[in-house]
Amino acid sequence: MSDRPVCVADFELLAKRALPKSVFDYYFSGADEQETLSDNEAAFSRWRFYPRVLRDVSKVDMTTTVLGQPLSMPICVAPTAMQRMAHPDGEVATIRACGTAGTGMMLSSWATSTIEEVAEAAPDTVRWMQLYIYKDRALTQQLVRRAENAGYKGIFVTVDTPYLGKRRNDVRNRFKLPPHLRMSNFTSPDLAFSSEEGYGEDSGLAVYVAQAIDPTLKWEDIAWLKKITKLPVVVKGVLRAEDAVEALKYGVDGILVSNHGGRQLDGVPPTIDALPEIVEAVGGRAEVFMDGGIRTGTDVLKALALGAKAVFVGRPALWGLAYGGREGVGEVLQLLREELHLALALTGCRSLKEVDKSILRRCDLISK
Ligand code: FNR
Repeated sequence: MSDRPVCVADFELLAKRALPKSVFDYYFSGADEQETLSDNEAAFSRWRFYPRVLRDVSKVDMTTTVLGQPLSMPICVAPTAMQRMAHPDGEVATIRACGTAGTGMMLSSWATSTIEEVAEAAPDTVRWMQLYIYKDRALTQQLVRRAENAGYKGIFVTVDTPYLGKRRNDVRNRFKLPPHLRMSNFTSPDLAFSSEEGYGEDSGLAVYVAQAIDPTLKWEDIAWLKKITKLPVVVKGVLRAEDAVEALKYGVDGILVSNHGGRQLDGVPPTIDALPEIVEAVGGRAEVFMDGGIRTGTDVLKALALGAKAVFVGRPALWGLAYGGREGVGEVLQLLREELHLALALTGCRSLKEVDKSILRRCDLISK
């Protein structure tokens, strides 16, 4: 391979070379047999384009909005924890790259940069806060309050993680943060996932989640969240139409169809397969987003055609970050932007409004 990456897979290879093994393993891994991890990417191949031709595609408009915020494209960055393991600038580099790209970033509760640091690094860039609900509700409420005060535009509450999925390499590596890093939004060493804490023979993160995250989470807690914030609330990690409809009853503003990048329950469907029935059930009453397995512009277009308002990318941004910090994330976003632009033009779509199900058909063949 030449040194110049030309697709997301190239960035992954370069990141693998650059990162310590236990860090790459943590970023890459799925749960258990990693079936869902593989399926997330492979399932896009079941959909084939039926392009419209002869439509003057010299101009293609990719602008959109997410929860009312204007973006230059429907590709945003998903929350991935502990980004300073990939690059010293971590989340600050990622938000700056999003600013340059004119898109938004979701900050993980488990970031290695604070909510405020990330806001100050790019005050005009759209930011959303990913929320884990802690056993300590006052602490959880404080995270929400800090995100509000720092100008974040929405709360995405993760609902697929009452316990951490079993990622085997993290167990083998006894994964924990390197000594110089902390989950920066917390002060006490136990909540900050400090390596000084003892995590035994297990994945340190699995132990952390069992200690700190609330496994009693239920629908009433979404009502609680809606009550304590004026920001839009999105549930992240929905895979069933019934759950999407239930979420609407609790007044959520959006649904993020996600299986956590195949890292939680192994054996759940790839998100591109779960998306259509959720879009149908929601029927335009809230915005529907998806993440999981997006590696190319054609993947993005397939998700949009099946009804996603926008998509989020997790690992691709991490690979860019590990390869080249802010510039690396920027290159990944630019690559995906160009690929989506080309895919839109080649399917005869001059704007996102012209993207619909008719450009896609399902087929049995999977080429990967
Ligand atoms: C994640 N994801 C995640 N989700 C979340 O709600 N809070 C978090 O802190 C994290 N952390 C995290 C770390 C790493 C290393 C990965 C790979 C993923 C899940 C993430 O937001 C998103 O759902 C998936 O990453 C999407 O799949 P792809 O794009 O990575 O295939």
